[in-house]
Amino acid sequence: MTTSTAPSASGTTEVVLEADGLTKHFPVRKRGRELLSKTKRSVRAVEDVTLRLHRGRVTALVGESGSGKSTVARLLAQLYPQTSGAIRLHGEPVRTKGGKRFRAYSKRVQMIFQDPFASLNPVHTVRYHLTRALKIHGNAGKTPQELEEALAHLLTRVQLTPPERYVDKFPHELSGGQRQRVAIARALGADPEVLLADEPVSMLDVSIRLGVLNLLRDLKERLHLAILYITHDIASARYFADETFVMYAGRVVEGGGSETVTQRPAHPYTQLLIESAPDPDRPAAQEKDGGTGEPPSLINPPEGCRFNPRCPHAMKVCAEKVPPRFAIGDGDGHFAACWLYGDDLAEGDKVKLRVAGVRHGGEEVL
Ligand SMILES: Nc1ncnc2c1ncn2[C@@H]1O[C@H](COP(=O)(O)OP(=O)(O)OP(=O)(O)O)[C@@H](O)[C@H]1O
Ligand code: SF4
Ligand SMILES: [Mg+2]
Repeated sequence: MTTSTAPSASGTTEVVLEADGLTKHFPVRKRGRELLSKTKRSVRAVEDVTLRLHRGRVTALVGESGSGKSTVARLLAQLYPQTSGAIRLHGEPVRTKGGKRFRAYSKRVQMIFQDPFASLNPVHTVRYHLTRALKIHGNAGKTPQELEEALAHLLTRVQLTPPERYVDKFPHELSGGQRQRVAIARALGADPEVLLADEPVSMLDVSIRLGVLNLLRDLKERLHLAILYITHDIASARYFADETFVMYAGRVVEGGGSETVTQRPAHPYTQLLIESAPDPDRPAAQEKDGGTGEPPSLINPPEGCRFNPRCPHAMKVCAEKVPPRFAIGDGDGHFAACWLYGDDLAEGDKVKLRVAGVRHGGEEVL
């Protein structure tokens, strides 16, 4: 088995946006007695994340709450500076630090947030939100008629038709799904190449989620957008994303074509995630409780593999060295950052950390 530093899943389509070794540590403010100590503490929210977004392709970023998904999106959108690592747009390093350069970057890389109600100002109409986006990014045309056409075009793109029915509405006059479509239209007002969609359907009724995901897929196909789709729901990644990356405690632990990652998960954490997901074809008793074991503290994360305190396969090496990405070899750029796939481990490294299925004190691990 070979070690691969930055495998990307299937195909040869153009890379639009890439993160290389992206890392973000948030400083922790000191309180009480800590004020006397000189040690600086930080939340190690994102560690050494490498991923690529391709033109005309959806890439899912999946993981449980607190695993660092939104932080990755915000770093890619340049809403925060990274602690280390590089972001490149069409191969050019990105570091905007606000101002004109940020505006030029955000024209090409737009973000959609989870809560469309919070992201639209309740005192302004759809017309106001979309006109503002079109004007900021120089897409409003030169005459009032060109502006009207651009507004109608955006609303039609997100299937809010006829446009005149929606353009003068306030956010509270729209359903959740319609509001999210307006938020997507506003992002499209920039005419971007990349959409970073942070849980775009998780606050919507289940019945309308599919419609919004299908809209995003339609935009990917028609406008050849590169889309990052952030979700807790690995089943929706299989349906909607071309490739899937799984995050655990700030690190990417597995990636590859969505079908492969979801049908043949290689990393023990991805396996847990899939077994914990509700599946209509599996009796409830067989579903594992995703709450068994807690994600670690990101202020003081475990050495080596961050999953090692929860992992039923953990070996000595897992608690000592961070596993690199190992190619799984079943196609589609499939890789896992897990020592189980390292083929030249010394016998001493393979010693089990605990008896399978049992934690110190006799508690069930999984
Ligand atoms: N501005 C911040 N300052 C300090 N810590 C932060 C900040 N933003 C995020 N964090 C911490 O970074 C970690 C990752 O957070 P993030 O929001 O990226 O996770 P997530 O995977 O998006 O979670 P969720 O699924 O709940 O949205 C968490 O421990 C969070 O508390
Ligand atoms: S590296 Fe070790 S602890 Fe981490 S998932 Fe693989 S076997 Fe488990
Ligand atoms: Mg989040």
